[in-house]
Amino acid sequence: MSAEIFEKVNQVLQDIEISSPSNTEELEAFRIKYLGSKNSIKPLFGEIRNIENERKKEFGQLVNAVKQAAEQKFSSAQDALESQSESASASDLDLSAPAEPFALGSRHPISITQNRIVDIFSRIGFTVSENREIEDDWHNFTAMNTPEDHPARDMQDTFYLQNSTEMLLRTHTSSVQARVMTKTQPPIRIIAPGRVYRNETISARAHCQFHQVEGLYVDENVSFADMKQTLLYFAQEMFGQGTKIRLRPSYFPFTEPSAEMDVSCFICNAEGCNVCKYTGWVEILGCGMVDPEVLDRCGIDSKKYTGFAFGMGVERQAMLLYGINDIRLLFENDVRFLKQFTSAL
Ligand code: PHE
Repeated sequence: MSAEIFEKVNQVLQDIEISSPSNTEELEAFRIKYLGSKNSIKPLFGEIRNIENERKKEFGQLVNAVKQAAEQKFSSAQDALESQSESASASDLDLSAPAEPFALGSRHPISITQNRIVDIFSRIGFTVSENREIEDDWHNFTAMNTPEDHPARDMQDTFYLQNSTEMLLRTHTSSVQARVMTKTQPPIRIIAPGRVYRNETISARAHCQFHQVEGLYVDENVSFADMKQTLLYFAQEMFGQGTKIRLRPSYFPFTEPSAEMDVSCFICNAEGCNVCKYTGWVEILGCGMVDPEVLDRCGIDSKKYTGFAFGMGVERQAMLLYGINDIRLLFENDVRFLKQFTSAL
C-alpha cells in the first residue's frame, strides 16, 4: 500500500521537474496546479496517516521536497519570463533609446588642401577649369614651348601610353593652359586643379602621381606686379597674414621671365628649422609671365595680350600644413591615418 503512495508522490515530483512554463498562461496553469488553494500537493500530506510508522518521517520529507520543488520551479520560471520581456522592450520598444550614430567619413588631406587653394583664388575671380589626365604631346609639351629634345619628354620622366609616342599621362597641369587658350579669347582667369604623373622612383619625398593647381591670367596690360600681388594674397590667405614671399629667378620653357616662389617658413616663423633647412624660406610654386610664343601657338595675339601663370604642388603644401613627413602616406588609404583630418571645406 505505502509503496504505491511513494511511487505516486515521486511521479508528481518528476512531473514538476520536467515541466517548463514558457509563457504567462502556462505559468498560471502551473501555479494553480501546484500552489493554488486546491493544489494537487495538499492531498498528499493527508496520505501520511496511511503510512506505516517507520516510514512516516521519510514520507513527510518527500512531500515537503515536492512542495519546495514546485515553489522553486515557479519562481525561476517567473524570473525568466520577466527578464525576457524586459530585454524585448529594450531592443524593440524603447523609443527613447539613443540612435546608433552613423560613422562619418573624413575628407582626404589632399582634397582639403586643394579645396582651400581653390577657395582662395575663387574669392578673387578665378574660375575652376578641369581637364583630361590622358593628354596628347601637343597640349602637354609643344603648345607649352617645350622643345622636342627637352629632357622632360624623355621616357624616363613621362608615362607614354603603350605603343604611343603621342598620348601620355600629363606631367603637369600646364596642359590645361593650352586647352583653355585654344578655346577661349581673353580675358582668361582660371585655376586648374588636378592629378599629374611622372615616372619617378617612389620615396618619402617623391611619388609617380601627385596633384597640382595651375593658375592662368591673360588680359590686356597684365604685369609681373599683378602676379606678385596675386601670389602674395594667396600666400597670406593660405599660411597666415604675416607671411612674406620671395621670388627667385628660374626657368620654364613656357614663361619668360620665370620665377620660383618661396614663403617665409610658417613652421618656425622664419627663425630656422629642419623643414626650411634653417633658411627661413620654403619653396611652394613656379610662376612667370606667359611666354609670347605660347600665346601665339594657342591662337592668342601676343601683341595685344599678356598674362601670368603659376603652378603649385598640393602634396607639398599639405605635408607642410599637417606636418606629414612621408608622401606615401597620402596614397596608402590607411584609415588610421585618414580619419585624423577634418575640415569644413
Ligand atoms: N608646370 C610647372 C611644373 O610642373 C609649374 C609652372 C606652371 C611654372 C606655370 C610656371 C608657370 O613644375
